[in-house]
Amino acid sequence: MACPFRRAIAAQVSRVLDLPPEKLINSITAVAVSKKRSSEDFQLFVDSVVENGKRLSIHDLQAQTQRLLEQLKCDAVVNEISSGPGKIKFKINREVLAKTIVQQVSKDGSEYGFKSELLSSLPRGKIVVEFSSPNVAKRFHVGHLRSTIIGNFISNLMKALGHDVTRINYLGDWGMQFGLLGAGFQQFGCEEKLKANPLQHLFERLGVHFDEFSGESFYQDKAQDILKLLENRGLLRKTEKGTGVVDLPEKRVGSSYATVVRSDGTSLYITRDLAAAVDRMDKYCCERMIYVTDKSQENHFQQLFQILRLMGYKWTDGCCHVPFGLVQGMKTRRGDVLFLEDVLDEARTRMLQNMTSSETTKELEDPYDTAEKVGLAALIIQDFKGPLLSDYRFDWDRALQSRGDTGVFLQYTHARLHSLEEMCNSGRSDDFNAACLQDPQAISILQHLLRYDEVLCKSCEDLQPKYIVNYLLALSHLAGVAHKTLPVKGSTIDVAQARLQLFKTVRSVLASGMKLLGIKPVIKM
Ligand code: ARG
Repeated sequence: MACPFRRAIAAQVSRVLDLPPEKLINSITAVAVSKKRSSEDFQLFVDSVVENGKRLSIHDLQAQTQRLLEQLKCDAVVNEISSGPGKIKFKINREVLAKTIVQQVSKDGSEYGFKSELLSSLPRGKIVVEFSSPNVAKRFHVGHLRSTIIGNFISNLMKALGHDVTRINYLGDWGMQFGLLGAGFQQFGCEEKLKANPLQHLFERLGVHFDEFSGESFYQDKAQDILKLLENRGLLRKTEKGTGVVDLPEKRVGSSYATVVRSDGTSLYITRDLAAAVDRMDKYCCERMIYVTDKSQENHFQQLFQILRLMGYKWTDGCCHVPFGLVQGMKTRRGDVLFLEDVLDEARTRMLQNMTSSETTKELEDPYDTAEKVGLAALIIQDFKGPLLSDYRFDWDRALQSRGDTGVFLQYTHARLHSLEEMCNSGRSDDFNAACLQDPQAISILQHLLRYDEVLCKSCEDLQPKYIVNYLLALSHLAGVAHKTLPVKGSTIDVAQARLQLFKTVRSVLASGMKLLGIKPVIKM
């Protein structure tokens, strides 16, 4: 079900402004929860709905705001309507707010937020996400790890949005590197496992899967077809050196042309990428193709897309590159050399040590497994907190702190909420007294939950995980406060049941958000 609150507000405003409610929905935004608790839940910026986007003078804006305010009426859902500078503010009936959110989350489960009209109106289709893509004969470095977790996140997000997602790992198995494969064997960990199923066991550990593994070498023949096509269309220019180039219409950084064939007739990285793109489109007929690599390849992908466009492929508009920055200082205790396996081992070992020394650690059936999941959460959150494009310095101690904005904190909050549910039976979500959820700490949580769809929407728009990360961290902080101030034990049955419902709701949203990011929530730690 869609958010009934935005709808109720849109219906009201639509009557006054004589605009269809659908046009108003996106302009009604949930108020962010802050220290200075506000009683309003939603706001509408007046200039976004009157005068068709024309800018109003301050005087006119105030007049319009006042006029709107006077004409709007409260109803069973909207309890209070007030104004602020250039905006109208709405407060939802408190019991309706609590009942609706708790029930909606219970009903929608991991689809909570995705069913909102903000997202359900977006077109659905086929999407190919290419990520990870290590070079098989070289080491799997931190950049590939970053590509793997980012691509996994983007794939999860697109899937949750309802797209048909194909995850491709495009292995660099070409040329020199390929010849050196033997030398690379021991770098992938267990030789037996590599032989049996190259790389796969590492992705298992990460909890990432792929629908297709393809290699650059697969495209060496197809690259020759691309060269013929380029020639036939008059796009291939021979240089004095005997190489073949394509002149580019937009000169960005670097060159005004791209070399696509060596003087000995062999293809280059970009030629094989051209062949791979055309091949994938033939195979999957997708609306979007997303490539995830570090930012040093930005130029490469801009050139790739330019050539595809020159070749007349309209679908190039659906291609995009998601670049990310460098990670510095990711060292293990054993030294600087970093393979994926070392990083995972290091996260697990350090986490295990922290857990052993902590007094709050529970008896665990499989401490290794828990340490691995928590350690991975720490890695992912540290990586996803800022804009993907920025470089950052990796710091194990900071990433693994149990308080503060870390993946460990998210896991800890999840485990704590889970054990609360285990200890007390929360009853049914459609049968609790919403009047018992009126404490400011409870209201803050409900208000925060109202904003989840907007946060998902932002992440879907620009494919950045930071909005979801910061949202979940804030949710966990609010849950921490509520856990202290709104005890379940020792409260009357009604109050206890209502609080349990609230905590259950928080845990559900926290778990779904964590899973989107590629984290497996633990239930004990
Ligand atoms: N194997 C390449 C590298 O490690 C990355 C491949 C990226 N994908 C692509 N279609 N070019 O640098």
